[in-house]
Amino acid sequence: MFWLWPWFWLGQLYTTFRPASILDSSRIAAIHDESFAIGWDRSEIERMILDGHVADVMISRAPIGEVVTGFAISRVVLDEAELLTIALDSEVRGRGFSESLLERHSQRVRQAGATSHFLEVADANEPALALYRKLGFVEIGRRKGYYPNAKGVGAARHDALTMRRDLSPLDPTPRFA
Ligand SMILES: CC(C)(COP(=O)(O)OP(=O)(O)OC[C@H]1O[C@@H](n2cnc3c(N)ncnc32)[C@H](O)[C@@H]1OP(=O)(O)O)[C@@H](O)C(=O)NCCC(=O)NCCS
Repeated sequence: MFWLWPWFWLGQLYTTFRPASILDSSRIAAIHDESFAIGWDRSEIERMILDGHVADVMISRAPIGEVVTGFAISRVVLDEAELLTIALDSEVRGRGFSESLLERHSQRVRQAGATSHFLEVADANEPALALYRKLGFVEIGRRKGYYPNAKGVGAARHDALTMRRDLSPLDPTPRFA
């Protein structure tokens, strides 16, 4: 989005992270919408935050304010967490911010009581796969042809990979402790 460019540019100087509030729902929904074929509307995001999902946002700060430039949301049930979604605004991708966001988020998931973090990802999503592998997620399952191919009907479908990361205290502490 063109009007956001000062935040994106200056935000490279100052990017930070915090738990999401319902006031962030519109920006989260906008980033989700540009990132995935099936969007979530603002009310769904609000419900997840109010239901107690672990939700974190990445903020780019400029002298005249701040803007949400990324988010991650997980559902935690007892000692298991599922990463439901993570995305960065397309303007700030490719600069390594996603690692910091996911590490912060994993730390909060762990504080919420989870010792395992699960997720599902298309095997064609190379940036996401590279990110998850770098942070210690390992493949534990594969659903053949689960996702449609963006190239359309007739193109080979993509497999869904299920991945898990051990968050138990025996594992190395996340780097952004
Ligand atoms: C997934 C996502 C959050 C990653 O953030 P990003 O800013 O694009 O990724 P980063 O710049 O942090 O790079 C992560 C790793 O992927 C690698 N990478 C980036 N683009 C790549 C590509 N096209 N092919 C292969 N590797 C790639 C990077 O080199 C980096 O690995 P490295 O640190 O070992 O070099 C972001 O791409 C996004 O929001 N995508 C849309 C939503 C989405 O797909 N979410 C995941 C759903 S499961």
